[in-house]
This record gives sequence, structure tokens and C-alpha cells, in this order.
Amino acid sequence: MMCRHYEIGMDGADTAFSVDASNVTFGAGCLNEAGEIAKSLGIKRIALFTDQGLVDAGHVSRVVDSLKEAGVDIAMYDTVRVEPTDESFKAATKFAVDAKVDGFISVGGGSVIDTAKAANLYATHPAEFLAYVNAPIGLGTPVPGPLKPHIACPTTSGTGSECTGIAVFDLLDMKAKTGIASKMLRPTRALIDPEVTMTLPPNVVASSAFDVLSHALESYTARPYTQRPAAASPSLRPSSQGANPWSDLGCAEALRLLGDYLVRAVNDDTDVEARHQLMWASTLAGIAFGNAGCHAPHGMSYSVSGLCEHFQPEGYPMGAPMVPHGMSVIVNSPSVFRTTAPQTPDRHLDGARWLGADVADAGDAEAGEVLSDRIIELMKATNMPNGLQGVGYGASDIDALVEGSIKQRRLLDNAPMNIDEEVLAGLYAGAVSYW
Ligand SMILES: NC(=O)c1ccc[n+]([C@@H]2O[C@H](COP(=O)([O-])OP(=O)(O)OC[C@H]3O[C@@H](n4cnc5c(N)ncnc54)[C@H](O)[C@@H]3O)[C@@H](O)[C@H]2O)c1
Ligand SMILES: [Fe+2]
Repeated sequence: MMCRHYEIGMDGADTAFSVDASNVTFGAGCLNEAGEIAKSLGIKRIALFTDQGLVDAGHVSRVVDSLKEAGVDIAMYDTVRVEPTDESFKAATKFAVDAKVDGFISVGGGSVIDTAKAANLYATHPAEFLAYVNAPIGLGTPVPGPLKPHIACPTTSGTGSECTGIAVFDLLDMKAKTGIASKMLRPTRALIDPEVTMTLPPNVVASSAFDVLSHALESYTARPYTQRPAAASPSLRPSSQGANPWSDLGCAEALRLLGDYLVRAVNDDTDVEARHQLMWASTLAGIAFGNAGCHAPHGMSYSVSGLCEHFQPEGYPMGAPMVPHGMSVIVNSPSVFRTTAPQTPDRHLDGARWLGADVADAGDAEAGEVLSDRIIELMKATNMPNGLQGVGYGASDIDALVEGSIKQRRLLDNAPMNIDEEVLAGLYAGAVSYW
């Protein structure tokens, strides 16, 4: 049974939630539909965004063939940076402006999809780079109108970026991740072909699956929409509107699927069922967090990835040190859920049970421990880093980590408890190592 907790509204809080439905096509082989979809959207010349890993894996050629067959002209940008930065967003924007296209298609993971969103935004509505970036780091200027059509074809079972209005990047000067959030950024169509995940390296499957796991748990345990102050007008209601009955549905099913298939999908690259089910979990969690919002584990991840100096993960392109997004999130999650459980123990127990923990003897007091133990068990089974120390940080880095994340108010204020600098330092301290 799913825990309901929307009945008690706070004074001045919102009384309604909005569902921004994503337009999704899901199934093996559907990448071949790209050309027909582009044609139906009236696109004559399309910018195709991807990265070298995807070209090498052979997925891009399928999309190119389909577009050519439909008579759509292609401008190819195959040098998207894995874990994009403000610099790489700007380079992609320049390409989009010069290419004079009337639509976009992204074939790749979150890095590629987010880059296409940003290039589409700045090419369609030119502005100073920081104009649309979330305040207080940027100006948070609202996007003035719709963008050009964008078909997003995710190739990792991870970010859910194909269903969200968010684009994330590293702001190099600040050594911190941040993002742009607007409903206008949500891709027009999501074309999700689970077959493409069969070529993913195990470490990328694991990292992106833990991103999914945390999307679902964070959305399910977020401050409910009935506890968030109402926006000045309904049209300003944010995508991070808090937990709500619609996103609960996607979270529950995504967590059940992860409980059954996460370890199998990582450890056996021939397990078609597990890899396909993980892609479906990623889609459901993407739809859910696109309508509820994440909270502290994601807010904290921004400095974990932004301040990285030495970590070089297996399965990712060698080059500059980086902490892949999913890892930068999951190293925080057990510490956060241990701390937030007293706010909504029933919801934390739901999460643990769906992920496969035995909760028969667990009461409210054990909720945080049971959930974090199950996450840690899954991390160990898939070779994830042991907390912050596993990606190169120690207790002496906590002040810098806090400073880099405290400004992520969109995320931190969506947590079920108030998070100030002291609380945040405690959450990082609890995440240094788990076993
Ligand atoms: N916009 C959002 O809503 C949102 C949500 C979460 C994360 N993100 C962002 O997404 C980025 C991470 O994206 P990601 O985890 O999907 O990974 P990614 O896009 O960074 O790709 C990781 C690696 O996997 C390779 N790869 C991708 N698909 C492959 C396939 N099918 N076969 C073989 N190799 C493949 C890529 O070439 C790359 O080397 C981060 O920047 C993160 O901040 C965005
Ligand atoms: Fe994420």
C-alpha cells in the first residue's frame, strides 16, 4: 500500500498540483521511428547532437538512416562533452546558430540531451549565458517562449532528462554544478529504445541506475505540494512542486523494478530483460521527478562533482577527472534518508520494501536505517564507491562541499526538512563512508 500524506495543508500552501505529461514512445527498435517523427513535426533540417561513445556503439547510424529516409537534412554535432560545462554549452550553441536548423535531435545520455536543450534555448532565445541559469547563481530569467522541436533519444537508463525541463552543467569558474530549469526545455518527444542499453559498460549502467533510484526516492519523500507556499499565480507553479499523487505512482513502480533488476542489469550484460526493465524504471522516475522535483542528495551532488580533482571512473572516457552524476548523488543518499526518515517514516519504509528490503519487523524508528542499509547493500553489489571517501573526499572537505551546495535552494527547499549550513554539514559527515 502506498502512503498518502496530502490531506494536511499548510496555511498559504498550494492546494493543487499540475501534471506536465511527457510525449513518450517506448520499445525495442523504436529508434527507427526518428525520421517519421521529425517529419511529422515539420522539421526539414535537424541538428543531431551526440558523443563519440554513441557513434562508436553504432546507435547514431540508425537514427541517421531513419532521418535520411524521411528526407530530413542533418547537421551533425558529435563532440558533446560527457558531463557538460558552460564552455561546452556555449560551443554547442554556436554550432546550432551557424547550422540554421529548424529542429533538434539528441542521441545519448543526460550529457547529450542537456546539451541539445541548452543549444536549442540559446539559439532560439539569445541571451547572456547566466540569464536563464537558476538563481542565485544565475539571474533565473524566465524563458520567454517555446523552443524549436526537440526529439530526445536517451541511451542510458538513467537521467530521465528526456522527460524533464532541466539542463545541468558545470560552471567552471565556480567549480560547481548548476542548471537551467524551465518547462520550455522539456523535449517535444521522447523516443526511448531499451535495446541501445545493451552496449552500456557496467559502471555506466550502475551509476545511471542509482541516479534513477535516487530520483524516485527523493521525489517520493520530497516535501508534499500541500506544504509548499503557493506560487504568486498558478502559471508560476514550479516543476519542483513537491511530492504528489501522480509522481508517487511512477516512483513506486520504478523502485520495485530497481529492486528486482538493478544488480542483474549491472552484472550481466547479456540480461536483456533486466536492461530493458531498467530503461522503463528510468522513464517512470524521470516523469515522476519532472513533476515533483528531487531534494538533498541531488543538491549535495553538485559540489561532489564540481570540486572533483582526481577521480577517474572506469567505463567513462579518460580525460579530466570527474565523478559521474549518479555516483555523485548516491554517495549522499543513505546519509540523507537516515536523517529525513523521522519526517515521514512510512514513506521511507515503502521505499525500502519496494527496493527489496525485509521490513516486516521494522517500525517507524527503524525506517531510516532499513532504507539506507538496503541502498548500501545494492551499492556494494554493484561496485559503487564507498561514500564520499570512495570518490576522493574526506572530513576535511566538508566545509568546501557545503559552500558549493548551499546555494542549490531549488533542490534543498524541496526536502522534507529545513536544510541550513549546519544540517548540510551533518549530512556530508554522515556520507564520508558506509562500510
Ligand atoms: N536534465 C536532467 O533532468 C538530468 C537529470 C539527471 C542528470 N542529468 C545530467 O546528465 C548527465 C549524466 O548523464 P548520463 O548518466 O545519462 O551519462 P552520460 O550522458 O554522461 O554518458 C556517460 C557515458 O556513457 C556513454 N554511453 C551512453 N550511452 C551509451 C550506450 N548506449 N552504449 C555505450 N556507451 C554509452 C557515453 O558515451 C559516455 O561516455 C550529467 O551531466 C547529469 O548532471 C540531467
Ligand atoms: Fe539525477
